[in-house]
Amino acid sequence: MHNYSEMILHVVFNLENQKQKISVDLLRQKLIWEADKSVLLESKIRSLIEKGYLLKENNSLLLTNKGRIEATGISKAMVKDEFSKKIDRLTRSSAYLDFCEEVYGYRVYLFNMMDKQQLDFVLGSIPLSADDTILDLGCGSGSTLNLLVKKYGCRGIGIDQLDDDILDRPSMAITYINGDIDRISDYSLKPTVTLSIDSLYFSKDLDKLVQQLNSIENNKMYLFYSQYIFDEVFGDKSILHSHNTKIADVLNKNNISFRTIDYGENERLLYENSLIVLKKYKKAFEDEENLDLYEQKLKEVMMGLELYDNNLASRYLYIIDGM
Ligand SMILES: C[S@@+](CC[C@H](N)C(=O)[O-])C[C@H]1O[C@@H](n2cnc3c(N)ncnc32)[C@H](O)[C@@H]1O
Repeated sequence: MHNYSEMILHVVFNLENQKQKISVDLLRQKLIWEADKSVLLESKIRSLIEKGYLLKENNSLLLTNKGRIEATGISKAMVKDEFSKKIDRLTRSSAYLDFCEEVYGYRVYLFNMMDKQQLDFVLGSIPLSADDTILDLGCGSGSTLNLLVKKYGCRGIGIDQLDDDILDRPSMAITYINGDIDRISDYSLKPTVTLSIDSLYFSKDLDKLVQQLNSIENNKMYLFYSQYIFDEVFGDKSILHSHNTKIADVLNKNNISFRTIDYGENERLLYENSLIVLKKYKKAFEDEENLDLYEQKLKEVMMGLELYDNNLASRYLYIIDGM
């Protein structure tokens, strides 16, 4: 169990990674433990500032270099723990599989903001043949990679931090690396196509990761990325533009040219549909003793819908054609 200050560093780290301006109110809103939202928060923030982990500039909280080093380790461990528990349970839930089939249009376990149209793009419009090797960064349970490998007879490499037994790996053509997307250079990979679906938010150094992927010869990239603004008042709306998101900043900084497909409306509709479908399966989740997962999912979906209703979200596929 992590302590209160660690939780604050974790949340600040993740918000910074998503290009958010961080007010104390936003931090309070994002802390997941009820106890953390208490009056103690301000004194904890003061103490983290005094110890040199945080800075306050123009009412915005920032990590110092020392704070970022500390927060990186804490956050990695917390993200791993959260996803492992969640995906481990969801991949054993038949209510969740039924839910996936209805919202994603494929009867496979998925943990992303794709709808059928986006999945069909991945499965039908990425130029792939049997000679290709596709790398799926943050592959989750490996569902999309499996569908691609089955369809094209290509090789697949999935990287995730989940234990091997969570992974659905029916084919010998798939190699699973139980590892870290920030350590891809250690794995000496030579993909011809790199896919990342809703996983880049968790890189601790997106700039370095993108540089490494870009240095692989003939490696096309397909990166799905949603950009949100969590603070309506304080947030800068321009970051929702396709050339201004966090991933676009990194691509631009490295002079990597890209094309985008706007999937904002798809994500909004996915939330709308998920809300309807989820409610239908409430009893089934309850019967499996997974009511907490149902409630967690409901909260995620309602938050996504609210962001789109308030024009505080966008989603794009970034396509990098490779050299
Ligand atoms: C939102 S899920 C998306 C999963 C999958 N791409 C899908 O579409 O269903 C994010 C995934 O990233 C993985 N992840 C987060 N941080 C990671 C890291 N540093 N290295 C490898 N995988 C990571 C999580 O375990 C999780 O499976």
